[in-house]
Parts: sequence; C-alpha cells; structure tokens
Amino acid sequence: GSTLQAAAAESGRYFGTAIAANKLSDTAYTTIANREFNMVTAENEMKLDATEPNQNQFNFTNGDRIVSWARSNGKQVRGHTLAWHSQQPGWMQNMSGSALRSAMLNHVTQVATHYRGQIHSWDVVNEAFADGSSGARRDSNLQRTGNDWIEAAFRAARAADPNAKLCYNDYNTDNWSHAKTQAVYNMVRDFKSRGVPIDCVGFQAHFNSGNPVPSNYHTTLGNFAALGVDVQITELDIAGSGTSQAEQYRGIVQACLAVSRCTGISVWGVRDSDSWRSGDTPLLFDGNGNKKLAYNYTLDAL
Ligand code: XIL
Repeated sequence: GSTLQAAAAESGRYFGTAIAANKLSDTAYTTIANREFNMVTAENEMKLDATEPNQNQFNFTNGDRIVSWARSNGKQVRGHTLAWHSQQPGWMQNMSGSALRSAMLNHVTQVATHYRGQIHSWDVVNEAFADGSSGARRDSNLQRTGNDWIEAAFRAARAADPNAKLCYNDYNTDNWSHAKTQAVYNMVRDFKSRGVPIDCVGFQAHFNSGNPVPSNYHTTLGNFAALGVDVQITELDIAGSGTSQAEQYRGIVQACLAVSRCTGISVWGVRDSDSWRSGDTPLLFDGNGNKKLAYNYTLDAL
C-alpha cells in the first residue's frame, strides 16, 4: 500500500489518528488525515468535560462533528473516553460516593447511547492504575466509590451499545516486566473469568527517552491477547527525530503485526505541530505536512 491505511489493511488492520474538531477547517490537515488514516479518535471532544459540562446537560456538538467527518469520509471511530479521573467537568470533580457512582454510570449510559452503532471501540475506562511499582489502582474520586467501579462502567457501556467493542486503555503498560502492566493484565484476566464484558485493551504508547519502546512489546501484546481480548495501539507518539525515532516506530509496527489480535494502530495526531507535546516532534508528519523518516519506516513495516 502507498498510504498507512492501505498498508495496514493488507493484514486486516486499521491505521488511525486523533482528530481535533477545531482543525477540520484546515485543508492541509484534513487532506493528510483523509488520505492516510481509516480510524479516527476524538482528541478531546468525547471526554467527560466536553460531553457533560453541566450535570445531565449533554453537549455532543464537537464529538458529532468528528463522527460526521469520519463517516462522510468512510472512516471508523474509536470512542474516547467514558470514565476517567482527568478532564472531568467541575461538578463531577467535587462529587464522591454513591452520588458520583450514579453520575458516572449515567454519563456512560448517555454518551454510549448517543453514539450507539457508530463506534468501533470505546475506551470505556482510561488510566485507572497507578504508576510505579505498587500495581495498585490509581487513587481518584472514581476509585473511592469502590473497587468495582470499572466493571460497573463496562456493564453500563455494554447495555447502552451492545455492538461496540469495549476497551480498557492506559499508558506505561507496554513493558511486560512493569508492575502496572501486570496489574492491568490481572484485572483483564479476572474480568474474563467472571464474564465482565471487556473486548479489548488499548495501549496508549506515549514514548520518550525515559520511557522507550520495550524490546518485549510483542510479549506484552501477545500475553494480553491470549486472555481473549483484542489489543490496539491507541495513542502512539514517540519523542525524537531521525533514525532513532523511525526505528522505534518500526518496532511498534512489528510488535503489533506479530500478534494476530493486535487489530490496529493509531497515532495521537497528524503533524508534529498538532501534537499535545509538539516540542517532542513525536508524530509521522512534520509541521509542514511532509512525511518524516518515521513515516517511511512505519509504512515499510506495515
Ligand atoms: C490529551 C490531548 O491530546 C490534549 O489536547 C489535552 O489537553 C489533554 O489530553 N492520554 C489520553 C489522552 O488518554 O486523552 C490525552 O490527550 C493524552 C494522554
């Protein structure tokens, strides 16, 4: 294939990107996005603060713009995200206990219902585990409603949109030997054994020199897949430039292609200038929309 989406499709996979609604009027941006990618994630527009700015008053304007752009250009959509400790609206940040649990479940139900039938995969819960060596859940207002908050969110999402794949999504879960990776693995194994509805695990894959692409990445992806879930690289970006960056992108693609249930890869933005960490120049196109060496290595590896 001569584009990322065409090359990925040769092995039945997708290649996606995060899209920002306020850039859909930038034709340089949409030209690249439309040509190269066949899966779209809303970078911010489906998050809790965007979709429920006031309790029980939902705003889907910008999320709908992204879904509309995706559908009119023949692309699928990853939903991101229904329950997360970050980017909560102010009213939710100040809630706790059973009131928060009910509000969270209502949010999951209302948003998943609005987008019912239009979402390939939902990141139902994002970033629920702590960093470091504890393997513990992240402390958050949602966690403090009870350890079963994650499975409650998955059950609500399944009821609202039975055909969407339901994913758990996190970062720093790439290296098989890390405690956080093991903790997420143990949760997924537990969910599968008890019939909690989970279909996929997303690996954000935000890399930099302190957190490089691990050499055992295919092991991590393969071990999760062996639990009976699909795995996806959901927010890929790699700080750096030149051959070093390009080789790390190639390593990610090779790890995914080595695992049959690794069904797709998404980068977290189109051009370096679109990135949430643009100073790291972590994406596949430079600020002028030119293909980087990392693009060539990625395309060749697909
Ligand atoms: C980031 C967006 O890219 C930024 O625009 C926003 O200011 C903060 O969130 N993990 C996630 C994504 O799951 O939602 C985050 O996106 C990046 C880290």
